[in-house]
Amino acid sequence: MKTVEVREVLKDLIVLRAVDRDIKYFESLWEIPEGVTYNSYVLRTSEGSILFDTVKHGFSEEYVDALRRVTDLRDIKYVVIQHMEPDHSSSLKALSNLSDFRAEVLGHPLTAKLIKSLLGIDVKFRPVRDGEVLRLDDITLKFLHTPWLHWPETIFTHIEELSALMTCDAFGAYSVPPYSISDLTLLRTDYVKYMRKYFVNIIGHYRDNVVKALDKLSTLNLKIELIAPSHGAVLSGADVIKEVLNLYRSWAEAVPKDKKVVILYTSMYGYNEEIIRKLLSAVSKDNVDVKVFRFTSYHRDNVSDFLGEVIDAKVIVIATSTYDNSVFPITKYLLEVLLSKSNAEKPVYLITTYGWNDAASRELKNILMKSKFKLSRELSVNSLLTEADLQKLNDISKEILTYLDIS
Ligand SMILES: Cc1cc2nc3c(=O)[nH]c(=O)nc-3n(C[C@H](O)[C@H](O)[C@H](O)COP(=O)(O)O)c2cc1C
Ligand SMILES: [Fe+2]
Ligand SMILES: [Fe+2]
Repeated sequence: MKTVEVREVLKDLIVLRAVDRDIKYFESLWEIPEGVTYNSYVLRTSEGSILFDTVKHGFSEEYVDALRRVTDLRDIKYVVIQHMEPDHSSSLKALSNLSDFRAEVLGHPLTAKLIKSLLGIDVKFRPVRDGEVLRLDDITLKFLHTPWLHWPETIFTHIEELSALMTCDAFGAYSVPPYSISDLTLLRTDYVKYMRKYFVNIIGHYRDNVVKALDKLSTLNLKIELIAPSHGAVLSGADVIKEVLNLYRSWAEAVPKDKKVVILYTSMYGYNEEIIRKLLSAVSKDNVDVKVFRFTSYHRDNVSDFLGEVIDAKVIVIATSTYDNSVFPITKYLLEVLLSKSNAEKPVYLITTYGWNDAASRELKNILMKSKFKLSRELSVNSLLTEADLQKLNDISKEILTYLDIS
């Protein structure tokens, strides 16, 4: 069912959120059984309404109906397009076809070109400069260029009178949460994991730009009491705002959590599985937070979750096999997205198994050498563990525990 919910976030600020529980792969890549929302916002002013972003096509009809319940389309003075990815921009096409839609579209200078190439429509468009202020009678908007969060044309908008920051993808999350979160306990439930997962999957490749955007926000000293992203919940309350700003910086800098180990393994016939079973029984101490991701004949974890967990891991273990004189294909893919989204200076322990020639080991070492990851130790096993391999595995577990400060 296509639902577009309407809720008042603050007096005069209304969220219209399209709820997508049917989606399986966000961007046709990332597994999200938790679903996602696409949020658009209407700000009512004495001089007319301002619309921030729209929702994904497929929801356009329900979205336009919901919008009509909130405002007369003729009263929409501006549409601020903060990001042109179609999950946010594509219902602009449906709006532009309506005779009672007359709004001027505001966005980054690059947006004009993308409206034409992605939507194929002509609209009244005005580019906004970084730091440009738009004053209406009772409302002051400040536009900030925040490139690469998540595309080059991304902007944030600060609404001075509401101390609200409209951030599109940034501070967004997967899942269909309560429409507003103002309580730390609620934030710290699964929601923060969905936020981290979304961050890594979508903006992980551009983490340096996240740091720049956060620095820009603190330099400008903007009053932020509410963050309104275009996926997930609206965030408010001093504690929540402070925590999400801090979390965003720590994820952008891939700051590790003290005792967190992420283990990734593939196993066709159980050789790697057996090795990981032994490693797990050695490192699974009470206070060690171990997250295991399996790719086997009977189980496949989500790549999207794996990437989300890696960003704040302290240690990573990869165990996989040689397949057709190369690295096991799924591992190749996992490494490719890992290096694109979560490339960070973290120690990696590499375990490879083979039958007659360990091509996986050679290839993976080459890949890791070109990344920021630091190869700590490696273990190459001719399928079944020998006594000498067991000794090396034991050394690896001990080294991991020492690194985690656990004796
Ligand atoms: C389809 C298939 C292809 C394989 N290709 C190679 C290979 O090219 N070179 C090699 O040394 N071993 C090869 N092997 C052997 C595996 O790498 C080895 O048995 C490994 O221990 C399997 O570990 P796993 O069961 O944890 O996946 C292959 C095994 C399978 C099933
Ligand atoms: Fe995006
Ligand atoms: Fe998005």
